[in-house]
Amino acid sequence: MNAREGLYVRKIKNGTVIDHIPAGRALTVLRILGISGKEGLRVAIVMNVESSRLGLKDIVKIEGKYLNEEDVNKISLIAPLATVNVIKDYEVVKKFKVKPPKIVEGIIRCPNPTCISRKSREPIKPKFRLVSTNPIKLQCIYCGSIISENEIVEQLTSLR
Ligand code: CTP
Ligand code: ZN
Repeated sequence: MNAREGLYVRKIKNGTVIDHIPAGRALTVLRILGISGKEGLRVAIVMNVESSRLGLKDIVKIEGKYLNEEDVNKISLIAPLATVNVIKDYEVVKKFKVKPPKIVEGIIRCPNPTCISRKSREPIKPKFRLVSTNPIKLQCIYCGSIISENEIVEQLTSLR
């Protein structure tokens, strides 16, 4: 941890630190995780701090919460360089980088209104192939539409 960050927020005891989030996306990460603040979880949000790798970055620290695979996959779509740190008794017991899945199923809606995955009578889940990682680009396997990172952010921010 660098000294500057220490000025903003202290270490957590147990929980998850999501680090190296692109600057300005911390609230989207919380949104994706379904955290509004009303759950009573203790959350620290650090926005627009210096990062050695990214220029500026955001950090989200959530006391008492551990992420599941779906959480991590969703985060990877809007923060492809994020690091997830699992904290137990103040120690980082696990650290890993998110990795956007090669196939994204059911999380994002196809932007093409006539796509078969959008027909409510068809039991077809939206399904995308990862065609680029940074920035993220997904391609619908049914109609070939490309969905960009900005659209993904918009969808994941407005869905809940
Ligand atoms: N952290 C925390 N509470 C802890 C331990 C770590 O909030 N009890 C946070 C640190 O502030 C940092 C992140 O978790 O934002 C990762 O911690 P650490 O691995 O110690 O920091 P770095 O070595 O700087 O991480 P990296 O190399 O991934 O940038
Ligand atoms: Zn489609």
